[in-house]
Amino acid sequence: MAVKIYHGDILFTPAADQLSVYENSYIIVEDGVVSQICERVPEEYKGAEVVDYGDKLIIPAFSDLHVHGSQYVQRGIGMDCLLSDWLNHYTFPQESQFRDMDYAKESYDAFVDDMLRHGTFHANVFATIHREATDYLFDKMEEKGMYGYVGKVNMDCNSPEFLIEKTEDSLLETEKYLSDHEGSKKVKTILAPRFAPTCSEPLILGLGKLAAKYHCGVHTHLVESVWEAQEALKLFPGYGSDAEIYERAGLMDYGPSIFAHVIFPTAEDKRIMKKHGSLSVHCPDATVNIVAGIMPLQQMASEGLKIAMGSDVAGGHGIAIYRQVARAVQLSKLKEFYEPAESKTITITQAFYHATKEAGSVFGKVGSFEKGYAFNALVIDNMEDSWSKMTAQEKLERFCYIGDDRNIKARYIDGKLLSQEF
Ligand code: GUN
Ligand code: FE
Repeated sequence: MAVKIYHGDILFTPAADQLSVYENSYIIVEDGVVSQICERVPEEYKGAEVVDYGDKLIIPAFSDLHVHGSQYVQRGIGMDCLLSDWLNHYTFPQESQFRDMDYAKESYDAFVDDMLRHGTFHANVFATIHREATDYLFDKMEEKGMYGYVGKVNMDCNSPEFLIEKTEDSLLETEKYLSDHEGSKKVKTILAPRFAPTCSEPLILGLGKLAAKYHCGVHTHLVESVWEAQEALKLFPGYGSDAEIYERAGLMDYGPSIFAHVIFPTAEDKRIMKKHGSLSVHCPDATVNIVAGIMPLQQMASEGLKIAMGSDVAGGHGIAIYRQVARAVQLSKLKEFYEPAESKTITITQAFYHATKEAGSVFGKVGSFEKGYAFNALVIDNMEDSWSKMTAQEKLERFCYIGDDRNIKARYIDGKLLSQEF
């Protein structure tokens, strides 16, 4: 058995209200998996290699549960639009370029490298309608050792003629995509109907059949704006809620169901998501940029709904999930200020938990350092001013607010040190 031991200030969140802090401690990793954390190296491990990170922080790597790899090139552009205009003016024309594989390769190479640079090792990614480009993204994430779900997007109505599929073709291409990647290990396929306004009922029902045949989950946008919530029910008149569109098709029966934004959930949406153990993905920057409305995070969490964090690049302008942790705290304060009945301010511990352990739960045992979890870790340095001491917890908070990739001194996936070259 390969044993490696790392020394530093070790932090992780086993629960939303629990930050475990082990300052000046050792984490013992056997074959890439955490076995224990201790203040002194036990006798049986004497002789094993120890990597000493001094008083640097060792934290779990982040999960991004809603990100559009295909919109990486759009970051920070069109940020004065709301959703419908942003999609029509910027996003749809840009995404249509993914029929060109040279364009797709450059975009996806840069996107994957930037996720790794910023400590996101587990991601649930929207591609585009183009199968070949989606295959490339899938393979790229696999080659880099990431954990992931990758979805070929489906859209067969209310879309411009340069970015739309015939229902039949959409289903055939999706089936080919699923079957080509059957049996994959760390990166997996997921169904990705864009959202109800661009998907017909026959398409959604057809995807439900594919979910049953290939046992895969679903990733889409749900009740993300007042416009979207109304549009969904207009286009699906026999349905009582946005979530019911996916539930009735059988899209929530296999694999994870992951819903981005979830800003205006009805009681019925929440009942359906809870029944299926779905994750609702909070994307604070995107919420401010193009979506407009703040997820009632604390209310939903207290009702037992699972919450994850997403960058939603390029609705969100930055890839760093640690920054979304800080923004989630900021937005929860605004929400409490304006709508005290709807939600309460969350702690940095809770936000970190949603971005690590809870989001990571869809990939297996990642996002924590409890025994049995993969050592997918970041080593963080230089958060302290030279003349003033800080606790490990304070350093973590500062990293989320004002740190960046230069503060990430080492990155490990499954106990293997990643190359520092991106
Ligand atoms: N709803 C439909 N498409 C999109 C998209 O590309 N980004 C976001 N944030 N919401 C969407
Ligand atoms: Fe999105």
